Amino acid sequence: MAKVTILGATGNVGVFAAHTVSEIPYVSDMLLVGRPGREDFLAGCCRDLSDSFAARGTDVRLSYSTSILDAKDSDVVICTTGMPRRPGQDRNDLAFENAKIIAETAETIGRSSPDAILFLVTNPVDVMTAVALKYSGLQPRQIFGLGTHLDSMRLKSLIAHYFRVHVSEVHTRIIGEHGDSMVPLWSATTIGGIRITNLPTFSGLPVQEMIETVKTSGETIIRDKGSTVHGPGEAIATLVKAILGDENRILTVSSYIKSEIHGIGDVCIGVPARINRDGVFPVPLSLEENEVAGFRESVRKIRKVTADVME
Ligand code: 2OP
Repeated sequence: MAKVTILGATGNVGVFAAHTVSEIPYVSDMLLVGRPGREDFLAGCCRDLSDSFAARGTDVRLSYSTSILDAKDSDVVICTTGMPRRPGQDRNDLAFENAKIIAETAETIGRSSPDAILFLVTNPVDVMTAVALKYSGLQPRQIFGLGTHLDSMRLKSLIAHYFRVHVSEVHTRIIGEHGDSMVPLWSATTIGGIRITNLPTFSGLPVQEMIETVKTSGETIIRDKGSTVHGPGEAIATLVKAILGDENRILTVSSYIKSEIHGIGDVCIGVPARINRDGVFPVPLSLEENEVAGFRESVRKIRKVTADVME
């Protein structure tokens, strides 16, 4: 059984992630960490969440702290700390401020939980994944970001709705930046196992409109209700379950690609990766020409923001 720590547990995403992660059968202990002065809120979160356990047959041991040092010996540390996007902001507008927070957090976690998997949710998540890799001293397999897994979920739902099929019949991926330069892999998208590009109806699919909807989904929800919660919260639980359940799923997350993929390497970016108890392992990509061009542009953009904050 495993200990999971949620940093930034008083934020909108952190509060809901505590609910979704507590449903994972492998979790025995969950620590909610918030900043000093939020002790009452954290205590309320624990009490409120434990009230749901009777209905779910869950018996996770909950605790809270305002010191990140109590994350000691965690198996997975989910990091949602940092400034959230405000309406009209781009994720990259948060880069400098959040990089300082993540650098300090990663350094502490690297020392206190040297065997942990550090899971970044803080935006801009690809850049924060790189910052955490640099400052934590952990191995690349131990660090990843939510990245385009959430975008892939959003596209999956749009495709299922358009074709009026069950969402489980759609497999698709978005790679690259968790942001405007994300790249949908239509070449790797299937419905009921059939390549979407082979469907006669594909030519009528509003692909540009769909990807635009995915790109602006976060911003639209933030404008309308202040924060995205359910999408990130469920995405977080899927990924933590893949780790703790040693599931060897291939999901698209922000991770460090060392060796070159299509001549691109040495960057933290959204790529398909095998996920299991030992962490996150990018798998080789085979892209169509137009997808390579989009991926290169995404890498260029992320590299620039990462270099700026790492200066
Ligand atoms: C989103 O798109 C939190 O960036 C995340 O909802």
